[in-house]
Parts: sequence; structure tokens; C-alpha cells
Amino acid sequence: MSPTIFAANWKMHLGPAAGRDLVRAVLSRVRPAEGRTLLFFPPAVSLPVVASEVAGRKDAAAGIQNLYFEPKGAFTGEVSASLAAEAGATWALVGHSERRHRFGETAADTGKKVRAALTANLGAMLCVGELLEERQGGRTEAVVLRQLAAGLEGLDAATVARVVVAYEPVWAIGTGVNATPADAAAVHRVIRAWLRDHTPAGSRARILYGGSVNAKNAAELLAEPELDGVLVGGASLDADGWVTICQAR
Ligand code: PGA
Repeated sequence: MSPTIFAANWKMHLGPAAGRDLVRAVLSRVRPAEGRTLLFFPPAVSLPVVASEVAGRKDAAAGIQNLYFEPKGAFTGEVSASLAAEAGATWALVGHSERRHRFGETAADTGKKVRAALTANLGAMLCVGELLEERQGGRTEAVVLRQLAAGLEGLDAATVARVVVAYEPVWAIGTGVNATPADAAAVHRVIRAWLRDHTPAGSRARILYGGSVNAKNAAELLAEPELDGVLVGGASLDADGWVTICQAR
């Protein structure tokens, strides 16, 4: 079985000094374990520091929260996959709901970003998830599968196996209202079935759940075998809470 992935998305929090302190505090308390992978997604400016903190730990890695798909050029304010890799990233988040809904990132952009990340040898974590009105309108499956297809477009089967999918319903992100384990599992099964149908290697894909995961609900969510891990925002910013979550399975 693949290790359970505990991914911390710090969003626009924790500069280099605070980031270093948090990673140190967490790694001193969460000892390496076969069945666990710890991923930290700090703001880009904190990436080198976080990468150097995790360098001695095979079970931990650092990633970039977003990247631009062009390899280089006049793109003020953007970071390419290879620059992120040079700063210590081995992973990239792609298509987070805040990128899609606050910054207008399109489904086609996410496909280009996934390909750019993989080309630079970064692991890609593709986020998908429906808005509340889409769920209420019975369109969850259609939305998630459309995002998945666009994000993975043009990849061969072997490459798809290198992508981790994070199912993050938009209505659950930062709201304190998490999907129930059963609701999350139902969407995970839809994603897994699509991956199996479209790529022979897809049945091995790892699928995480994200959206209001916290120290109180993590164990219940992770008791659901469909969840290969969790992607956590707010509750990953506090050492005590994050340590508890990382020990929840
Ligand atoms: P949250 O965010 O845990 O604060 O809900 C999750 C995410 O956006 O990845």
C-alpha cells in the first residue's frame, strides 16, 4: 500500500522564519514512518528554507502552491516549474480552488501546469472540486470529471500514475464544514473509476480529500479507505494540530 499523504497548504501564511520554526516543530514530533508522507506547500518565498528543513527526511518534501506553465520569459510575478525545483520543490499544487475561482485559472491552464510540473520532474497534485451550487444542482460528478480530464489531458498512462488528485469541494474549503467520509468516498470512487477507464495505470492513482480537515475530524475521515491522504489548509498552520492530524492514521 502507498503511504498516506499528509499535505499542508499554508496558502499566504508563514514567511521563512515562521515556516522554518513550524517545520522543525512538526518534524521533531512526527517521526519517520513507512506508511506516511509529509508534504509542505509554503508560500514561494519560504520554499528554500522549508526544503532545507525537510532535506534530511525521506518521508517529507516541499512543494510550490502554484506555477506558471511557460519555462521562462517575461512573466512578471510568476514562477516556473524549473525555478520552483531549483528552490527545493519536489511537488507542485495545481488547480487549487483559490487559483480557479479567485484568480480565474481555467481548466486548460491546469492541464498546461500539470504537464509543466511533470516535465520539470515535480510531482503534480491536481485539485478538483465542485461549488455548492454545482453540488445542489446534481452536477458534482460532471464538474469533477471535466476538471480531471482537462488537468490530465495529453498525459500517457504511465505519467498519469505520477499525479496525485486532491478532491476538494469548494464549499468545504475554509468553511468549517467538511464533506462526510461517505460523501468524500463517493466522489473518490467516481474519480478512481474514471482514471481506471482512461488509463490502465490509473487504478493506482492516489486521491486525497481536502476541505476543513482538522485535528478533530481527521481520524474519522482517514478511517475511510478511499482516502489516500488529506490536503489541509488552516489546520496545518498550527504545530499541535498538524502533528495530531499527521498521526490520525
Ligand atoms: P482548509 O483548506 O483546510 O482550510 O479548508 C484546504 C485547502 O484549501 O487546501
